[in-house]
Amino acid sequence: MLLNDIERAKQHFARLLEEEFARIERMKKDKDFVDYSKLDKIIIGIVGGDGIGPFIAKESEKILSFLLQDEIKAGKVELRNIEGLTIENRAKHNQAIPDDVLEEIKKCDVILKGPTTTPRKGDPWPNIESANVAMRRALDLFANVRPVKVPSENIDWVFFRENTEGAYILGSKGIEVSDELAIDFTATTTEGTERIVRAAFEFARKNNRKRVTAVTKANVIKTTDGKFLRIAQEIAKEYPEIEFDDWYIDIMTAKLIDESRRSSFDVMVLPNLYGDILTDEAAQFQGGVGTAGSANIGKKYAMFEAIHGSAPRMVEEGRAQYADPSSMMRAVVMLLQHINFGEKAKALEMALDICGQYEKKIVVTGRSNGATNSEFSAYLMETLSDSSLNQKWQNYSQAQN
Ligand code: IPM
Ligand code: MG
Repeated sequence: MLLNDIERAKQHFARLLEEEFARIERMKKDKDFVDYSKLDKIIIGIVGGDGIGPFIAKESEKILSFLLQDEIKAGKVELRNIEGLTIENRAKHNQAIPDDVLEEIKKCDVILKGPTTTPRKGDPWPNIESANVAMRRALDLFANVRPVKVPSENIDWVFFRENTEGAYILGSKGIEVSDELAIDFTATTTEGTERIVRAAFEFARKNNRKRVTAVTKANVIKTTDGKFLRIAQEIAKEYPEIEFDDWYIDIMTAKLIDESRRSSFDVMVLPNLYGDILTDEAAQFQGGVGTAGSANIGKKYAMFEAIHGSAPRMVEEGRAQYADPSSMMRAVVMLLQHINFGEKAKALEMALDICGQYEKKIVVTGRSNGATNSEFSAYLMETLSDSSLNQKWQNYSQAQN
């Protein structure tokens, strides 16, 4: 009996290894990043998601159509709504992303995605894989870039979270070997590590950043984290002008709350699970996960999203129209930057700072005592139309420091 369990587990493991080797081959084939300036038209797919998702996605779409009105008219940009990435439809097909939805997504160049509900054991839904995780894998979005900025505290961090492997790649493929034993797997590849570490260093070089820090638990998770760290140390040598150091994830969570140390961190590169955890902690300094945007970058596709969840309770309580769209708007800023509309991205970023942090003519509170998300996006558009936007932002930001 025990022997049967072991045999079954071995076969399962063998299949996982085959899948991983096939994935490595796919990664190796994809060498170059897409050049958006060479595309006749950039298709931006907008995926509403669940809960408050469709509400904040609608407002984000308004902002995109406003900022890109000329390009849309000229046929250079298309905004395309993609239906069906709802928990009801995913449950119906018993798939993290139903095939026909994935097909539509793959016809776009970049995706703006609202939050999607991730089921877990005991939920009324089948325990399917997270749509985020599945999309990152299906589109090979290997770099999860999450900036966190608190000017008054001199905090200006950019996290490069490895987004496709580590604990996540086989996260839904563990083995219940027997009633007594459950095993999960984590996988680190040379290709997968090199590309995320290089992305972090290239970003640092282009943006004149001084320091890259790798965060692992290589003292205990010796094989996979050890490999990640070793590769980071090697690649660091190619960037002698950038300081490199490494920390363990446990002490790193402490250092982020150490006021005497934290502002010296700059660019951080880390495996998937540590990146997941540390970026939530980091976003809290900036006002919580509701304020942070997240970019998921691959060579061919890129997806931009809010870092918070779908807040089903807000919908149940009839408060979805009061949900704060800022995090998704920050994702729009990153999307615009990514497809080379840097000035429009900057304008939206300034408008978000003015409306959400400085001027605050109206405030979104999540409840009926605050503004609705469509009132907030109207306020943003009014601010964007103001010819003194730049000056206003300068004045406010100087007054902050
Ligand atoms: C995130 C989220 C996701 C993750 C969840 C929703 C699966 O926490 O984007 O950080 O763990 O990556
Ligand atoms: Mg997370």
